[in-house]
Amino acid sequence: MGKLIFEHSGEEVEIEAGEPIAPACEEAGVPFACTEGICGTCIVEVIEGEENLSPPTQEEFDFLGAPGKERLACQCKLNGACVKIKF
Ligand code: FES
Repeated sequence: MGKLIFEHSGEEVEIEAGEPIAPACEEAGVPFACTEGICGTCIVEVIEGEENLSPPTQEEFDFLGAPGKERLACQCKLNGACVKIKF
């Protein structure tokens, strides 16, 4: 079990290891459109724990360029530990 924390609200959501963060993000108000890593609508900033997300997908490299703090929420899975994001 991992945990996703939203910086603006302090809300914490438990997510099974290996599961996508998109449903919890959508519930918290992150906007989604394509859900395929193409449009960039779901961009979030990782505040802590980026190592606990799945590695950036090819779509994220194409949209975001070199790996940094920004991720596309529709592409990320949680590996079972804790990640804090803001959007
Ligand atoms: S919803 Fe389009 S990139 Fe994530």
